[in-house]
Amino acid sequence: MAREDFIPSEYRDYAYEEVPLPLPGAAATISCPHSYPLFYEPLGLDRGQRFLEIGAGSGYGAAVAREIVGGEGRVVSIEIDPLTHEFARRNLERAGYGDVLLVLGDGWLGYPAAAPYDRIAVTAACPGMPAPLIAQLVPGGRAIAPLVEDSRQVLTLATKQADGTTRSEPLCEVLYVALRRKRAGR
Ligand SMILES: C[S@@+](CC[C@H](N)C(=O)[O-])C[C@H]1O[C@@H](n2cnc3c(N)ncnc32)[C@H](O)[C@@H]1O
Repeated sequence: MAREDFIPSEYRDYAYEEVPLPLPGAAATISCPHSYPLFYEPLGLDRGQRFLEIGAGSGYGAAVAREIVGGEGRVVSIEIDPLTHEFARRNLERAGYGDVLLVLGDGWLGYPAAAPYDRIAVTAACPGMPAPLIAQLVPGGRAIAPLVEDSRQVLTLATKQADGTTRSEPLCEVLYVALRRKRAGR
């Protein structure tokens, strides 16, 4: 799997620069290369896990996750923008990741049909950890998201406790596109 295969042709020369690059769709970017370990290492993403990604973008993050969880795991990725979703779908299929379940919809709501998940990554900035995502985590499961705090975004790791509450740990400042919500009837 090559990162440049998930990038629009006009930006391929910049595939390994530490900058986000534009994708088809309203406000979509492929995140910079270091952001994948930045999310997946604190998550403890590992073989055999069921992983949910919010914000498929290019599909690259889902492909990296599929490499980590392996065939005995499961990757589900949700994208809200139809153009971006189609771009990710084509990339994943062409690169041989047709078993990633790619969903068009509002990731705030998660994807209950394939729940529960061991690990969840939200790759867009949200005002707080979406409650439906925590509900779809197994006890002991972890979710990571850039949370908006005043004018900053703080990458935050949440671990679900046995009683359903979460323990949160701020990790570092990041900069991500905002999580969009799907309005009723659209
Ligand atoms: C930083 S990009 C994701 C990068 C992606 N993980 C990758 O590896 O290329 C954020 C993505 O989140 C999507 N997004 C924004 N709000 C969303 C929502 N409510 N549900 C699902 N996707 C959403 C945007 O359209 C955009 O594609």
